[in-house]
Amino acid sequence: MSAQDLIARRFGDNGASGEGGHDTDLISRVLSRKTVRRYTEEMPSEALLDTLVACALSASAKSDFQQTSILRVRDPEKRAAIGALFPAMPWIGAAPVFFVFLGDARRLQRIGEMRGKPVENGTLEGFFNASVDAALAMQTMILCAESAGLGVCPISVIRNEVDKVARILGLPDLVFPVVGLCLGTPQGEGHVSLRLPRSVTTHVDRYDDSALETAIDDYDQRRHALHAIPKEQQRSNAEFGEAAFYGWSEDKARQAAKAEGAAFPPYLRAHGFGFD
Ligand SMILES: Cc1cc2nc3c(=O)[nH]c(=O)nc-3n(C[C@H](O)[C@H](O)[C@H](O)COP(=O)(O)O)c2cc1C
Repeated sequence: MSAQDLIARRFGDNGASGEGGHDTDLISRVLSRKTVRRYTEEMPSEALLDTLVACALSASAKSDFQQTSILRVRDPEKRAAIGALFPAMPWIGAAPVFFVFLGDARRLQRIGEMRGKPVENGTLEGFFNASVDAALAMQTMILCAESAGLGVCPISVIRNEVDKVARILGLPDLVFPVVGLCLGTPQGEGHVSLRLPRSVTTHVDRYDDSALETAIDDYDQRRHALHAIPKEQQRSNAEFGEAAFYGWSEDKARQAAKAEGAAFPPYLRAHGFGFD
C-alpha cells in the first residue's frame, strides 16, 4: 500500500492525503503499526535485543541529561510475580521478553553529589523530564522492534501496583517505572486501529475544538463499522447500564470515569519527589 492509502486507512477522515510526500519504508511501517498482545514462543536473539536497547537509548533526551534507564526482567520468578499482579493482562507474564522503562531522576542527582553541586532533582521538572525521556526511549524501541518483525505492547498498568513492582525490581528513590514493554514474535494478524480525525487532533495557529462533538460522533460510527466493541466488553454496565450504541467515546468515558493510578502519587512522594 502507498503512504496515501495507509493514511486513509489509519484515519478515514477525508483529511490531508499526504500525496506528493515521502513514502519511505519507515513511514509505511509507522502508518500501519499496531499493538500486539499475543506472541509465539520464539525468543528473539540476544543480539537483536541488545540492538533494540541501543536504539532506545539513542532517542533524544531532554538537555542531554539522559534520564531513563531500561530494566529487562529476565528472572522467571520475577516475571511470574509481576504477571500475577495483573491477571486480566496475561500477556505481561507470557510475552517472551519484558522490559521496564524507568524514569531515572536519581542519576543526575548522584552526578551532582559527585561533582559537589546542589542538584535537587525531585522536582516536577525532574519527574517530567525523566518521564518524557523514558517514553521517547520506549517508542524508539517499539518502532525498531516492529521493523525487525517483532510485535510489542506497552504496559502502563504496572504503575497501578507500583509499590509491589518497585520492590520486585529493587528500585531506589527517584527511580520509577514509566511503562513496561512486552515483546515477541506476533501470533495472528491484529488490526490497525482507526485514529481520531485530524480535525480534532491537529490545530493551526490557534487551538480550536469547537467541532469536537460532531467529529467524535462521526468517529464513533466509523470505528464501530470497522471494529465494533462486542456487547460483552461494555464496561461498568452495573453503574452506567447497557448502551444501545457503544462506541469508542462511550467506552473511553466509562474507562476514564474510574480513576486509575491512585498508588502512584503517594509512591513518588515517599520516594524522593516533592514536585516543587
Ligand atoms: C503509555 C502506554 C501505556 C499502555 N499500557 C497498556 C497496558 O497496560 N496494557 C495493554 O494491554 N496495553 C497498553 N497500551 C497499548 C494501548 O492500549 C494501545 O497502544 C492503544 O489501544 C492503541 O492501539 P495501537 O497501538 O494498536 O494503535 C499502552 C500504550 C501506551 C502508549
